[in-house]
Parts: sequence; structure tokens; C-alpha cells
Amino acid sequence: MPKLIVVTREGQESTVEGEAGLSVMEVIRDHGFDELLAMCGGCCSCATCHVYVDDAFAGELPAMSDDENDLLDSSDHRTGASRLSCQIPFSDALDGLRVTIAPED
Ligand code: FES
Repeated sequence: MPKLIVVTREGQESTVEGEAGLSVMEVIRDHGFDELLAMCGGCCSCATCHVYVDDAFAGELPAMSDDENDLLDSSDHRTGASRLSCQIPFSDALDGLRVTIAPED
């Protein structure tokens, strides 16, 4: 299974395995990182699954939808690396992807 590297808000880094086909949010949540609230369950309406994605994988990610872009605009912590993790399908192509959980808004 492809691996996902998750960095918590405190800077602790862990490597977990994720099933391809789940979203990155689901992989993070299923491994017990409860600081990623993902309150809407992945319907792109809460922005509590905000992560920063390492530049190395920027070209591998699906394009951002208008809804995702608008939601990220509501965050005080948006950067050029910001994505909503529920909008990124995990896959073998993303093996080794490193994401950092963004600060809470
Ligand atoms: S889980 Fe709500 S927008 Fe991603």
C-alpha cells in the first residue's frame, strides 16, 4: 500500500499506509490523528481537513475546484501549499506524499 507521511501541528512526523481510493483525509483520520477534525466528512464544506502538501507532489495532485478554493480562502492560515485533504484521492502515484496538518482556524 502507498505510504503517507503525516506531520502533526506539534511537528511530529509519522509514516502510515493508506489504501488507494480513500481520500488523504480518510487515511489521516483512520490512523487516529484526531486534530484533523474533518467535520463535514469529506463533502468539501468545512475546511477542517486543511493540510499543507509538500511541493514535490504539487504536480501530482488533482486541480483545485472552485469550492475548495473558496473554502481555503476562509482560512487565516492559507499558504501556497494549502489543500483540503478530503479533496485529494490517495493513490500509488502519491506514495511518499508528505502532508502537514494546518493550524486550527
Ligand atoms: S472534511 Fe470538510 S472540507 Fe474536507
